[in-house]
Amino acid sequence: MNFDLKTLDLAGAVAEKCDLLVLLVPDGFVPGDDGLSVIVAQATKAKDLETKPGKCLQLYQAPGIAARRVVLAGMGKGDARSVRQAFGAVGAVFKNGSVKRAVVCLAGPARPETVAAVVQNVAQASYVYTTTKPKAEARVLGRVVVGVSDTSAVAQSFEHSVAMVVGIEFAREWGNRPANHATPTLLAEAAKSLAKFPGIQCKVMGPTEVSRLGMGAFLAVAKGSGEPLRFIELRYSGAAKTQAPVVLVGKGITFDTGGISIKPAPEMDEMKFDMCGAASVLGVFRALAELQPAINVVGLVPACENMPDGRAIKPGDVVTSMSGQTIEILNTDAEGRLVLCDALTYAARFKPAAVVDIATLTGACVIALGGVRSGLFATDDALADALLKAGDAADDLCWRMPLDDDYAEGLKTHFADVGNVAGRPAGAVTAAKFLQRFVGEYPWAHLDIAGSAWKSGAAKGATGRPVGLLVQYLLGAAKDPAPKARTRKVAARSA
Ligand code: BES
Ligand code: MN
Ligand code: ZN
Repeated sequence: MNFDLKTLDLAGAVAEKCDLLVLLVPDGFVPGDDGLSVIVAQATKAKDLETKPGKCLQLYQAPGIAARRVVLAGMGKGDARSVRQAFGAVGAVFKNGSVKRAVVCLAGPARPETVAAVVQNVAQASYVYTTTKPKAEARVLGRVVVGVSDTSAVAQSFEHSVAMVVGIEFAREWGNRPANHATPTLLAEAAKSLAKFPGIQCKVMGPTEVSRLGMGAFLAVAKGSGEPLRFIELRYSGAAKTQAPVVLVGKGITFDTGGISIKPAPEMDEMKFDMCGAASVLGVFRALAELQPAINVVGLVPACENMPDGRAIKPGDVVTSMSGQTIEILNTDAEGRLVLCDALTYAARFKPAAVVDIATLTGACVIALGGVRSGLFATDDALADALLKAGDAADDLCWRMPLDDDYAEGLKTHFADVGNVAGRPAGAVTAAKFLQRFVGEYPWAHLDIAGSAWKSGAAKGATGRPVGLLVQYLLGAAKDPAPKARTRKVAARSA
């Protein structure tokens, strides 16, 4: 699917030949004298149309309008949430098999956040998963024109959001694949495929190298599975070597049965999504490949299955992590923190500017925040603020949670330096407190995406979150992402 940004007033939109024209009408819209304005004015007067998001009106082969099909839709204030609500009403039409070429025109002056939201929502509305359902009709929407009265103020936001969409869809694809089609080995292959893009390198380690590094916690989780573990290391180099990278660490449990502390059967299939943190890291690199910003980023993914088996870890087993701290594994279902703790220790070798881990870590976070906001934990206020702001800008929200030391009390045990679980209260926080013990001398943030990474029920599927948040954050860190000027920039900086 290709997106184009085009200067288009309503008179121009009238003449756009396409299968579908969606006109988004904001509050306070002042109609002109073109054909579309006249219809909007008449429909509004007759109360057949409102600018409230969620309200819409469809036309077919309307006289004087080149588009075969037209949808007039209210978009209220034109902020991200209103656009999302508007697409809640009109979105389904983008999946229609007859819509190959669509124009989405913004009536009135367009803001960057509106354009970004339009791009994201068109992609979201037209996405179809087909990998293991070959007979399903794939996306037919091939070209989307976003029409605005003046492109200059929104061009950068448009370019960023198109790249974000590419990254989000990469993350959704890998998130959605069943566990037997997304093994640690296949995930590593997907990461390697990203190394074909400029600036990206990929290194993959197996059980031998991981043992040599002493990642006893990660190895312990993988022990119960016949699938060999993989430790994926991606690097994006867009700036001088001297510039400290941001390190992203993604939980890559390709299936979480719970291990010996086995999970109940209902909804266990959804534990194929337990690698959505890893998928979001891959998605971010896919977006970086598009944008080529002047920053350095490292992506780390400890990937394995959590299975019950004769060789699996047992409750009460004590293992030694890469940090040297011993861990009593009281519940084998609290495996995410075990694979992440060794990756956080490993991250220190990059002397990072910041480390952000992303994990479908706790059911408790789903209870706390649901699917609206991801849980954000951070040791550094500036990093927390940057991530919160990035989430707002990309309409990929998060909410800061506490890290008081008192929450770590329950992790104390007689048999090791730390236990891997505390009691049920504040489960998302105690998980973060466990991780914090392994954080080195760098600003650290943890995103618990257990509620936001996928949807259950009729709309079951990966959301691609928090790729939008992360890309937005990284572009903020880059300040001037200057696509294509990368090589020149690097040279200028190191000179
Ligand atoms: N992957 C799960 C967390 C999860 C559960 C995400 C349900 C989304 C929906 C994680 O590995 C896990 O099992 N966590 C346990 C921790 C507990 C044993 C302390 C949980 O949340 O129940
Ligand atoms: Mn688990
Ligand atoms: Zn898990």
